[in-house]
Amino acid sequence: LSQLPEGYTCRPLQRGDYAKGFLDVLRVLTTVGDVSEEAWNDRYEWLSHHNDAYFLLCILDPSSNIVGTGALIVERKFIHNLGLVGHIEDIAVAKDQQGKKLGLRIIQALDYVAEKVGCYKSILDCSEANEGFYVKCGFKRAGLEMAHYY
Ligand code: ACO
Repeated sequence: LSQLPEGYTCRPLQRGDYAKGFLDVLRVLTTVGDVSEEAWNDRYEWLSHHNDAYFLLCILDPSSNIVGTGALIVERKFIHNLGLVGHIEDIAVAKDQQGKKLGLRIIQALDYVAEKVGCYKSILDCSEANEGFYVKCGFKRAGLEMAHYY
């Protein structure tokens, strides 16, 4: 397992993370929009009531700023004997912190949770540009993404 650099920590998302730069880290991934603290609190509240299905992780630097994040959503199926599938989503590492194996560490931690809760596989969608990263994390190309935007 890859270790975090000295002074960095990895933990579940917490209520107070709005002030620690969580949304700014996600901005390296895509549009986040203007999310007020009140709206954040509502979403956090919902997530905390679904904490057997939504696992959000943060990596903090030695000054306790959030510099990385990722999520695992556990889907409960009927097929495969009521199988569980992990969906890895919204992996992001702050621009100036990339290349320190923080992304790898996030995936390893989410993979660990997925296996622990009983998922038989974890899947994710990514761009061609990120394929090499996920291959290094132990994933392999499978299938094709389709999307229907509303
Ligand atoms: N292509 C090929 N190899 C890569 C790439 C890449 N795009 N990015 C990293 N790697 C390699 C690294 O060189 C390293 O290899 P090594 O072990 O031989 O040294 C290994 O993968 C692990 O890299 P990390 O240092 O852990 O990567 P990092 O912390 O920079 O995180 C990430 C990678 C998450 C893709 C980051 O660059 C990022 O946040 N990018 C912008 C947002 C993004 O695209 N997120 C992923 C969206 S897909 C999804 O969320 C499911």
